[in-house]
Amino acid sequence: MDSIDIRLDGRVVLVTGAASGIGLGIARHCIAQGAVVYLTDVEEVALARNAGALGANACARRMDVCDAGEVERVVTEIIDTRGGIDVLVNNAGVVAQGSYAETLEPAWQKLLAVNLTGVYHCVQAVAGSMRQRQRGVIINLASVSAMRGGGSIGNVWYGATKAAVVSITKGLARELGADGVRVNAIAPGVIETEMVKTALTPEVRQRVLTRFPLQRLATVEDVARATVFLASDAASFITGQTLAVDGGFLTS
Ligand SMILES: NC(=O)c1ccc[n+]([C@@H]2O[C@H](COP(=O)([O-])OP(=O)(O)OC[C@H]3O[C@@H](n4cnc5c(N)ncnc54)[C@H](O)[C@@H]3O)[C@@H](O)[C@H]2O)c1
Repeated sequence: MDSIDIRLDGRVVLVTGAASGIGLGIARHCIAQGAVVYLTDVEEVALARNAGALGANACARRMDVCDAGEVERVVTEIIDTRGGIDVLVNNAGVVAQGSYAETLEPAWQKLLAVNLTGVYHCVQAVAGSMRQRQRGVIINLASVSAMRGGGSIGNVWYGATKAAVVSITKGLARELGADGVRVNAIAPGVIETEMVKTALTPEVRQRVLTRFPLQRLATVEDVARATVFLASDAASFITGQTLAVDGGFLTS
């Protein structure tokens, strides 16, 4: 029987929001599978430090996903230098917590700008070249909040942005499939990154844990391994899907 090939040798991967947390973990795992990874973020100090530790196949670039011009510049540079982008991981994101009333308009606008307009800018900048090359993979970071209207760490407004990401994933898969471009999403459960640290008090952690049949929170590695799989040829007939990496959270 053929072995399952999840290697990414020579692939060029662009990860947004890669200075920390899940994005950094995804970058590390892609590099371990042979990829060249462009780690991008607005947090330039952490980005340079963390990308620097990943070796020669890690390239750090400042890129604010809310800034169409900056996205275009970085994407053009990568395509000119490397010939194309094989994998785009739309990971940059912000969260909002608390009741519906506690999210004031500036926070709502920020959710929309990073979690949705950011995805819009990156897809618009990258997809055309993928279509021309007749290959490419786009992976979007959604959340279990998309399926439940918030209700884990993120609130209703955060959940709404992630539900839109699930919808974008399906629609793009339909539009780009004929040009050899696959589009999938990953919906993680709760992971202890900077994003959720402050919300995860001992009481909240205990309450959340009871809802995970596998009895633990997800790790960055859990999500990174799933991302490598979806990016690889092992997933060559999978598109339009949202893969929950949630220890069974959505079943409870
Ligand atoms: N941590 C969780 O429990 C969890 C669960 C489900 C989904 N997610 C999703 O996973 C993704 C990564 O989350 P994380 O937990 O690693 O969060 P994180 O806060 O550790 O990392 C997010 C990164 O995005 C960057 N970022 C924010 N705004 C940006 C912008 N405008 N342009 C570029 N980069 C920007 C931040 O600087 C940060 O480095 C997010 O989309 C999040 O919604 C996280």
